[in-house]
Amino acid sequence: MKALVYYGDHDIRFEEKAKPSIQNSSDVIVKILKTTICGTDLGIYKGKNPEIDPGRVLGHEGVAVIEEVGDGVKNFKVGDKVLISCITSCGTCEYCKKQLYAHCKDGGWILGYMIDGIQTEYARIPHADNSLYKIPSTIDDEVAVMLSDILPTGHEIGVQYGDVKPGDIIAIVGAGPVGMSVLLTSQFYSPSTIIVIDLDQNRLDMAKELGATHVINSGDTNVEEAVKAIAGEEGVDVAIEAVGIPATWDICQKIVKPGGHLANVGVHGKSVNFEIEKLWIKNLTITTGLVNTNTTPMLLKAAATNKLPLSKLITHRFKLSEIMKAYDVFMNGSKEKALKIIIDNDLS
Ligand SMILES: NC(=O)c1ccc[n+]([C@@H]2O[C@H](COP(=O)([O-])OP(=O)(O)OC[C@H]3O[C@@H](n4cnc5c(N)ncnc54)[C@H](O)[C@@H]3O)[C@@H](O)[C@H]2O)c1
Ligand SMILES: [Zn+2]
Ligand SMILES: [Zn+2]
Repeated sequence: MKALVYYGDHDIRFEEKAKPSIQNSSDVIVKILKTTICGTDLGIYKGKNPEIDPGRVLGHEGVAVIEEVGDGVKNFKVGDKVLISCITSCGTCEYCKKQLYAHCKDGGWILGYMIDGIQTEYARIPHADNSLYKIPSTIDDEVAVMLSDILPTGHEIGVQYGDVKPGDIIAIVGAGPVGMSVLLTSQFYSPSTIIVIDLDQNRLDMAKELGATHVINSGDTNVEEAVKAIAGEEGVDVAIEAVGIPATWDICQKIVKPGGHLANVGVHGKSVNFEIEKLWIKNLTITTGLVNTNTTPMLLKAAATNKLPLSKLITHRFKLSEIMKAYDVFMNGSKEKALKIIIDNDLS
């Protein structure tokens, strides 16, 4: 079979790999139907994760059909169509019992990282009973791909950790797929004002379409002043960081009001300047973390009503045989006006 394989910094290849087989009784083998590229995969490509072994198949978001089941799998059978969660969970360890699946002692984020992932034709999924979900028939396969990672990430680490409440004024810094997912899922909780901040005007225009009440282009504006002109001098109830760089952390810490929440979603590669000398007095709640995907079943039900405009996040479609071209487009996301790219398995 063909797979997108990581060899090191700026070295990925689409090449022949052996088809995976069952290793443990809780495994299934799936045939991938649709997958996508995540901002995190770009980070890997750019050398952010030297801990990854050369030869690793990348990818952790997608929809598949079950080809083979291990002896211990109870919930799935051959032929079932499934959503693959970016987080693998055993369901029985100390962390799984607290629904902190991100920290599962035999799972967490391992697909396309510590074990071979799903930008390929066939993949092995460990702990299938807890790591896969049946897809309601009213959800399109490509829409379901949005639920592997970005939608639960935005909802859990942005909106729920940020404790967005009815009437709140919230600011979302970063309008990539994760920021857009924060934008969509925050509306479950009826905030009164949603300010989205980014450098990319095209993404800001889309944010307006998806429900932002205000957008700010941080390339040509003093963001702190612009936010306070909208929210009032004290700032916002909830500031959500969905980029992962010091500049955007800084925006969040400057715009959050006393008693507010700062929810960091971005993956940071560097330290930030944490202004504890100004923040200590503000009675803030500051949160951060890796998605648990504990709200995926709920989000699947919400998506099944087709009230969430998830298909608007999909801007490009490629075939698996064209995945190198898809990486190229995704890497030039701003120029190509790309947000989420669907990759169809045309090979098997
Ligand atoms: N915590 C988690 O579990 C989790 C899960 C998935 C992704 N992430 C992280 O979330 C972050 C966002 O992911 P994504 O896929 O949406 O990324 P992305 O790169 O597509 O989007 C980031 C956005 O930030 C904007 N941006 C960059 N610099 C900016 C600045 N100075 N001011 C304002 N906007 C700026 C970009 O224009 C872009 O639209 C990444 O750090 C990713 O690794 C976290
Ligand atoms: Zn992802
Ligand atoms: Zn576990």
